[in-house]
Amino acid sequence: MTLTNGIQPALEKLLELAQQAAQHSYSPYSKFRVGAALRLSNGEIVTGTNVENVSLGLTICAERAALVSAISQFGPEIRVDAVAVANLNGMPSPPCGACRQMLAEFTQPGAAVLFPSEDGFKTMSFSDLLPFGFDMKLK
Ligand code: THU
Repeated sequence: MTLTNGIQPALEKLLELAQQAAQHSYSPYSKFRVGAALRLSNGEIVTGTNVENVSLGLTICAERAALVSAISQFGPEIRVDAVAVANLNGMPSPPCGACRQMLAEFTQPGAAVLFPSEDGFKTMSFSDLLPFGFDMKLK
């Protein structure tokens, strides 16, 4: 996808990295090639892609692959400041519910999340994307 008009430069760079990550997608079943890039508060950027499995249910999404990689590399104290999602199919692909719930544990409420939508790219804050996720700390 090259429709990046109107995207702020820092997110545009993140989007490029998400697009690159999508090139590594293992998606022989859906043929839907997704990439995600996370910008962490320590300044690092970590990417991931979707990895499917013949069982289908064991498939891991690009966003969760990126998150697991970030924690593996930098530890559980990471904070995600921004997220970009891309796919090589020219389709809308906001992060799925499971990915939102997983990201919630490590992502600032005000983090920008950029993803392909019906008409180009959309940017939303994480708290708008998952306004009432499960959290045992809720009172
Ligand atoms: N997928 C992602 O990578 N991220 C999402 O948020 C939703 C879906 C992947 C999983 C599967 O490999 C393919 O897209 C089709 O569902």
